[in-house]
Amino acid sequence: MEDPDLEKELVKTIIKMSRYTIYISCIAVACMVIVIVSLSNMGSNSPAVIEATAPVSTTIPSTESSAGTTPRSISADAWKAPDESTIPAGKAGDAIRYGRELIAHTAQYFGPKGSVAMITNGMNCQNCHLAGGTKLFGNDYAGFISSYPKMSGRSGKVEPASERIAECFERSLAGKVPDTAGKEVQSILAYMKWIGKSVKKGQKLFGSATEKIAFMDHAADPAKGKEVFVMKCQSCHGSNGEGLLNADKKTYANPPLWGKHSYNDGAGMYRLTNLAGFVKNNMPFGATYQSPQLTDEEAWNVSAFINTQPRPHKDQHRDWTDLKKKPLDFPFGPYADGFSEKQHKLGPFKPIKDAQKELTSKKS
Ligand code: HEC
Ligand code: HEC
Repeated sequence: MEDPDLEKELVKTIIKMSRYTIYISCIAVACMVIVIVSLSNMGSNSPAVIEATAPVSTTIPSTESSAGTTPRSISADAWKAPDESTIPAGKAGDAIRYGRELIAHTAQYFGPKGSVAMITNGMNCQNCHLAGGTKLFGNDYAGFISSYPKMSGRSGKVEPASERIAECFERSLAGKVPDTAGKEVQSILAYMKWIGKSVKKGQKLFGSATEKIAFMDHAADPAKGKEVFVMKCQSCHGSNGEGLLNADKKTYANPPLWGKHSYNDGAGMYRLTNLAGFVKNNMPFGATYQSPQLTDEEAWNVSAFINTQPRPHKDQHRDWTDLKKKPLDFPFGPYADGFSEKQHKLGPFKPIKDAQKELTSKKS
């Protein structure tokens, strides 16, 4: 290295090269961070339809800061759906399989463009009875068959199982009921019998229906719920809660949360305790009882927001005619107590519960 110019050139090149190395490693690290963050955001079984511009930066801090999302465990002997391989061959098995298909893809058969009849809003039973009614705290069907026929507080009469299925067609699917003696409802029943075959009448089951999450000492707040919705729900359910149709325009990839294709105000989900318990344990999609992603407060508030948006109305003046049996979160009066419709809809629920306890203790 006698030539000073050459030496200078060499030094320059080395400096340049090390700069490039630094640039390149910075970019590589940034890419890795983005990949890790988006993977951990997606969860393992998210549906394919996630907006490419998922609000990464907004989701992370609030998840970290929210209490009440710590992992929980489920006892090893909790109910599990029977294994698919135990569906018998032949006619009996065909009915079970057809029933399961109807629950998973209800819209294809009964939706606005349904092949059997066009009598529902386009939702699937499975949108709320997750994984065909096999997911704990996801409105599972474990104890359904064994508990029917059953006295219904809502209708005031003893109902056969087919009647309870009919009610979800009329309310959750905001539609009409197919013939309950027909092949479709009978196949749904066959599926539910198979699902619940190991459950005995009156057996206590962990994880049935939805979790009853703790009451707050104040009313749920729709305005705060809207913030949760925008950050954690809108990317799949749409900015107007309208859901996202599949390319076939017949079925939903992500079902609607309100509006004319959603459940009506006579549905179970229109009661805040049901919706909040469902959302806490199942949403954003992929959440479970074991690893919830929302605090109780977020679940209450986002549910309050959803259930104060417009949706189809059902005449319910014949429901819950025995006022003492009306659920505390049934949002339509009259009531046996002096609380307003607003408080019955959004809470606080504890004072109502205490008053109901007093009413029943007076009676006895
Ligand atoms: C929008 C959500 C939603 C949809 C869609 C829906 N359900 Fe339901 N279903 C519920 C909720 C919530 C409950 C519990 C309601 C309650 O406690 O009042 C329920 C309860 C039931 C029950 C009683 C379960 C038990 O253990 O007592 C049956 C059976 C049922 N649904 C069947 C169906 C069928 C069949 C379909 C499709 C045709 C359907 N549901 C669609 C939300 C839904
Ligand atoms: C990654 C996409 C995704 C996100 C994010 C998401 N959901 Fe869902 N949600 C779904 C899908 C898909 C279903 C239907 C599940 C099925 O059919 O298996 C569903 C079903 C529901 C249902 C029951 C069916 C209905 O339409 O009424 C409710 C209620 C719901 N989601 C609320 C929420 C709320 C509240 C949030 C935000 C806290 C949320 N979801 C975030 C994808 C998502």
